[in-house]
Amino acid sequence: MDLLLTGGMGYIGSHAAVVLTQAGHRVVLYDNLSNSAQVMVERLERITGVPPLFVDGDVRDTDRLRHTLRHHASEAVIHFAGLKVVGESLDIPLDYYANNVQGSISLLQAMREVGTRAMVFSSSANVYGEPRYLPVDEAHPTGVTNPYGRTKLQVEEILHDLARSDPAWRIVCLRYFNPVGAHESGLIGENPQGIPNNLMPYIAQVATGKLAELRVFGNDYPTLDGTGVRDFIHVMDLAEGHASAVGYLREHAGWQVINLGTGQGYSVLEMIRAFEAASGRRVPYRIAPRRPGDSASCYANPEKARRVLNWTARRTLAQMCATTWAFHSGAGGKGAA
Ligand code: NAD
Ligand code: WQD
Repeated sequence: MDLLLTGGMGYIGSHAAVVLTQAGHRVVLYDNLSNSAQVMVERLERITGVPPLFVDGDVRDTDRLRHTLRHHASEAVIHFAGLKVVGESLDIPLDYYANNVQGSISLLQAMREVGTRAMVFSSSANVYGEPRYLPVDEAHPTGVTNPYGRTKLQVEEILHDLARSDPAWRIVCLRYFNPVGAHESGLIGENPQGIPNNLMPYIAQVATGKLAELRVFGNDYPTLDGTGVRDFIHVMDLAEGHASAVGYLREHAGWQVINLGTGQGYSVLEMIRAFEAASGRRVPYRIAPRRPGDSASCYANPEKARRVLNWTARRTLAQMCATTWAFHSGAGGKGAA
């Protein structure tokens, strides 16, 4: 299929671009490079042997999107573009609503005008808020607690209304749990600007010596070792989930919301130990107070993805750590994500 990937130069979008290209799809990466870099184009070509088409554009630019969709005859859009840092969304909420909500409306208007009515949307387990039961399935009530999560839920609601209004729309909202890891080439991965907010890139930067030590936010949670438990999912498994969702959209109209997780939780201390084993480096840490807003445990019920998309995560925690290490210790970690 001819696919437009907004935010396709970013962490998850670039891995999806690899999987989709290798599956025979033609991808166009539409990105404003606000959190990615041009070097991604040559890295993707090195991995796949196919130079990706890149359009430097903002999703709020409806004219440019309309032109891009028409010019490349895009049959479906995978909408990765957006801002994603929970803490930052509390400081600059307007930027989050403008990029994530206004950007999505602009994209949907362009799609409607050119007649492209199929979308896979990057949503987040963040929309569930504090889990009321585990594992978290799609029927779990939503309960957003920050502007970032609210933007994701608002876009989901817009998409649901659109699907209700016109049966021609084909929409899958994927709620990702905690994506980690990198492509096995070590060429692409997650390399956040500044001090990382998320656990895995932080651990990686401690292992390389870039950061001195990890602060473990709380060791008094009701979990196996007192530290937070999350559903870490290999980004290549996540990328394959998008290929399955695109296949699903070919056959089915309507609206679906689907978790992408492994169903298995690991604690912060388990992550540290697994990373030390994969890298052969020590990861010094100290116990720090809980981080406000964190829950003790969060992991997915991935049954719907298996049933509807015929997809399950296959890669192990050791693979998540080994590929992260290969990226951070090699050439990839020195450039942008
Ligand atoms: P990322 O920042 O690496 O990638 C997002 C890309 O979108 C970047 O290349 C950025 O330059 C681009 N972008 C941002 N605003 C844009 C705009 N207005 N117009 C055009 N391009 C724009 O993030 P990621 O980790 O790859 O996340 C991709 C999507 O998945 C996001 O929507 C994010 O909210 C969602 N998500 C991510 C995670 C995670 O932990 N990484 C978890 C759940 C959901
Ligand atoms: C994981 C665990 C921390 C950093 C966030 C978003 C979510 C999604 C994924 C976008 C927690 C602990 C972390 C550190 C630590 N993103 N930790 N020291 O908070 O589960 O999810 O990213 O959609 O929406 O909320 O991920 O990696 O920040 O934290 O001890 O320096 O690691 O307390 O238990 P989180 P995380």
